[in-house]
Parts: sequence; structure tokens; C-alpha cells
Amino acid sequence: MPDPNTSHLRSARWFGPHDLTGFIHRTAIQAEGFSKFAVKDRPVVGIANSWSELVNCNIHFKLLAEAVKRGVLMAGGLPLEFPTISLGESLMKPSAMQFRNLMAMDVEESIRAYPLDAIVLLGGCDKTVPAQLMGAASAGVPAIMLTGGPQEPAYFRGRQLGVGTDTWKYADELRAGQITQEDFNDLEASAKPTAGHCSEMGTASTMTSLVEALGMCLPKTASIPAVDSRRAAAAEATGRRAVEMALTSGPKPSEVLTEQAFDNAITLLMAVGGSTNAVVHLLALARRVGYDLRLDRFHDISIRTPRIVNVRPSGEHLVKQLFNAGGISAVLKQLDPLLHGEAITVTGETLADGYRDAAEPDGQVISKLDQPFDDSGGIAVVRGSLAPNGAVIKRSAASPELLKHRGPAVVFEDIYDLGRRIDDPSLAITEDSVLVLRNSGPTGAPGMPEWGMLPIPERLLRRGVRDLVRISDARMSGTAFGTTVLHVSPEAAVGGPLAAVRDGDPIVLDVENQRLDLDIPDEEIARRLANVELPAPKYRRGYGRLFLDHVTQADEGCDFDFLHKLPDEEPQRLPYGLTSGWQGGW
Ligand code: FES
Repeated sequence: MPDPNTSHLRSARWFGPHDLTGFIHRTAIQAEGFSKFAVKDRPVVGIANSWSELVNCNIHFKLLAEAVKRGVLMAGGLPLEFPTISLGESLMKPSAMQFRNLMAMDVEESIRAYPLDAIVLLGGCDKTVPAQLMGAASAGVPAIMLTGGPQEPAYFRGRQLGVGTDTWKYADELRAGQITQEDFNDLEASAKPTAGHCSEMGTASTMTSLVEALGMCLPKTASIPAVDSRRAAAAEATGRRAVEMALTSGPKPSEVLTEQAFDNAITLLMAVGGSTNAVVHLLALARRVGYDLRLDRFHDISIRTPRIVNVRPSGEHLVKQLFNAGGISAVLKQLDPLLHGEAITVTGETLADGYRDAAEPDGQVISKLDQPFDDSGGIAVVRGSLAPNGAVIKRSAASPELLKHRGPAVVFEDIYDLGRRIDDPSLAITEDSVLVLRNSGPTGAPGMPEWGMLPIPERLLRRGVRDLVRISDARMSGTAFGTTVLHVSPEAAVGGPLAAVRDGDPIVLDVENQRLDLDIPDEEIARRLANVELPAPKYRRGYGRLFLDHVTQADEGCDFDFLHKLPDEEPQRLPYGLTSGWQGGW
């Protein structure tokens, strides 16, 4: 039913006035076939839909949006769906990450510019989730997220696959001569059987899980499979809740995304053995609400948080099995002693209220807190003369014997150099070597692509070598694995020490002691850096130029510097020209 008590709504500023401005706004809605009652005394809920035929992971979002609308209508609101740009991890070049901030700006400005009282964010594929959260956080209008859910497991020759993890595995097997090209073609046909995001704990499943820990979605919804009818039911419930949030003008994202919420999200990240990409996204999101989150917070939480989820790439199962074992709420329930259970969520209740009645662990996919699969979290932070501002390594997906290693560098100038020489028989490389890839960071690549899992040279693969220490200023797919040090900051392209490394230089990785060092005298590093010729900018105009001019380094989240929250910023700024009468022409 329409609520007569709606004069406080944002949308009432557009549709309420009995003047020419109100007339124009109401006719715009009526032109779509709505009656004037559709916007009378009724909250408007925007549905920010990242559906796109270029993004297979989000291809079911039209159906989900219909279910959200049903919920909004049931609760007495008016749902209005709008498209946002979408970021498809597989097809978008040079890297979906390069456009995360663009999508965040699209979401933020769409929310701010239109007569919306609350927002439902529909995100799934890797970068769509952080982009929507970042945009909504900056817009300051009550927002609730509905994620798309993981796709169904794929099967290949009777074996269940993780879509990303097994792609990397079988690509190496093909290069090693262990499977045929025909086998690989069959794998291609079976790898992605349904809509939904990647089926293991890659970046998408990590981020969607963190949405629940952050308190930005309804409890128990993060891991519902994409094609499960319960996801549509969750969409309907999300729509209903969005109307309540609109009527009460809250909670706003900044009221949910508190320091405690970030601690909760980082704790879950470590407990599920989640993606290193989440580090970059959480650093960026925190700065959207004025929280100066630092890399060291990840390390501190990592060492106190056991891994209690057995899902690939850190474990054996897929997110579907995690859901069947109780889902993210069951994981949060186990983590309760390590969480700020009192953190407020989009439900208006506490995080603990949402997981209190969750399932008990089965011991196979989810363990008890005191019987973990690993004693500490999946991600470690290292620093040293090679990464003064830090770098990350996914310890849970690395080879334990390589976590402490000293070896000679084999340096690649960029991804093209790597492609040309990695299988060159004359390349001086052994299983002790440390592969170094530079100019792959936020400005060097640019866009910090997922190039960090450098391939193992074919001749080492054929000798049975499956891992080497690899170091770069790039990111890595959340489904990838190996002893890969990522996000080296500052990156080589802005004069970071990675630019000083030469073939044969000794590099020391010591994860337990949080060290990553180029083991040559500091004066020699400084001398070399003084003579380094930085690469020319890759873009001179357009969005690429904006990106190069304003992207921050990995340890600050790679957001644009001008999108961080300002200390004196109004929480919910209305568009210019809204309140002072007619401002434009027809
Ligand atoms: Fe979209 Fe993996 S490609 S989530």
C-alpha cells in the first residue's frame, strides 16, 4: 500500500512538487505507461543491473531483476530497473580491472542523478561486485546487494571441475604433453555449463561471500547457486527489504561499511582461502567511506584466522558444495569468536543475528574453528627492499617448500617479453629460479591484469616441475595457484624497485617473516633506479588517460585518487538543480 508518510523520500523531491518541475518528472514516468499513482506516496527502488550478453556470469540477471521487482511491488514500492556498464572477466580487454572504477562512477552517478530512495545492486562477475559497492558507498543512498550465485559444477571425463582452477591445470598438462589437444577441446566445451559466476572460490565467489560478511546482502544468500530457485526467492526478499530501507532512509552503505565490517570481511577472506584480488577491492572500498585500511591489517587478521573452508583453489570442493554444507552463514557462525558480531547489516539487525541459526560444520567442506584445514589464513603480506609498500602472496595456494626461498632472478620486461622467451631453450632457468615480471601493474600494464601466475617453462614442466617462485606487480586470477607474489608496490612503471632487478640477482622470499628482498646492497638498488628509463604512458587521451593520471597503487586499492571520500563530504548529496525549480528545457 502507498505510504502517506513519504514526504522525506528523495523521490518526493522529484515527483512531489505541484509545479512545472514536478509535472515534467511525473510525465516522464507516465510516458512509460505507469499511472501517476505509481510515484505517489511510494518509495522508488532502483535496480542497478549489470546484465550483459558480453558477461556470461551475469546472463540470468534479467530473471533475477524480475524477482526483485516482484518483492518491491509486494512491499508497496515502485521498482525501476536501469542498466549499468558491465565487466566481463573473460572477454573484456586489456583487463576488466581497468574499468572497475569506470563502472563504480557509472553506478554512483546514476544513483545520485535519479529519483531513487534505495538501490538493489545486481552483481556477480569478478569486478562487477566491488564496482557496485564502491559506487553505492559514494552515492550514500541506502543500498542492498543481490549477487548472482555460482554456476553449476562442470564435468570432464567424469571428473568434477573448477572452471578456473582446472583450466590452468589442464593448460599446463597440455604443454607438458600429458593430455592431447582433442582432450583440451572437450574441456573447452564443458567448462562453463550454466549461468553464474565461477564455481570455485575465485574472485567472484570471494567477493560475493565478503558481501555477506560486510553486511551488504541478506544473510544466507551469498552462495545460493545461480540456477537454484532459492536465488530468485532471495531476490524477491531483497526487493522487499529495499522498500523498508527506502522508507526508513537506511541503513546507508557508510553505516554498514564500518571498520568492524571490514575486519569481518577480512576474517572471512582468510577463512575461505579467498582471492588476493579481494585485498585490492577492500582497500578501495574502505577509502570510499573514509577508512584508511592498510595491508598490515590483512596480515594481522590472517595470522589469527584459520582456514576452515575446503573449497578450490585452496581446497577440494566447489561453492555449490559449500552452499549445501550451510553456506557462508555457517562459516560465519564458526568464526563468531573472531568477528564483530554486533556489526549492523542491511537488515537493520546485527551480523550475528543473521548467522546464529546457521548449520553446524560437516567437517568435510566446513570445519570447526578448532579443527581447521590450515592454522592460518590464506593470504600473507610481505615487504622488503623489493616491495617497500608491500606485496601479497596466497599462501594457501602456494607450495609450502617455496614459502622460504632464495634464488636467482629471471627477469621479463613485460608480458610480451615473457611470451617471446618463456619457452626459449636458451633461457637460463632452473627449478631454483625466481621468475620476475614487471610493467604489469596499475599504470604499467596498465590496469593491473591477472598476469601474475607466470607460466612454467615447458622444459621444466616436462621434468615434472609444477611450481616456481614468481613475482610481479600484476594481480592473479582468484582461481589460480602457485607460489606467486603479487601486487608488488610501488610498481616498476613508477620507479619501484622491481624496475631495478637484473637477471641473476638473488631474491629472498620469506613468508613467515614477511620479507621480500632483492639481496643486493641498497646503494646499488638506488643507483640502478636513478638510471631506469620509465616506460612511456600507454594512453594519451580518453578514459585510459584519466586512468593513468589518477589510479592509485595496489596498496591503496587502485581506485582513482579523486574518488576517495573527502573528510568534509556530505553523506548524500543531491544533484545540482533539483531543488530550485525548473532548470532545463524539454
Ligand atoms: Fe565471471 Fe569468473 S569469469 S566470475
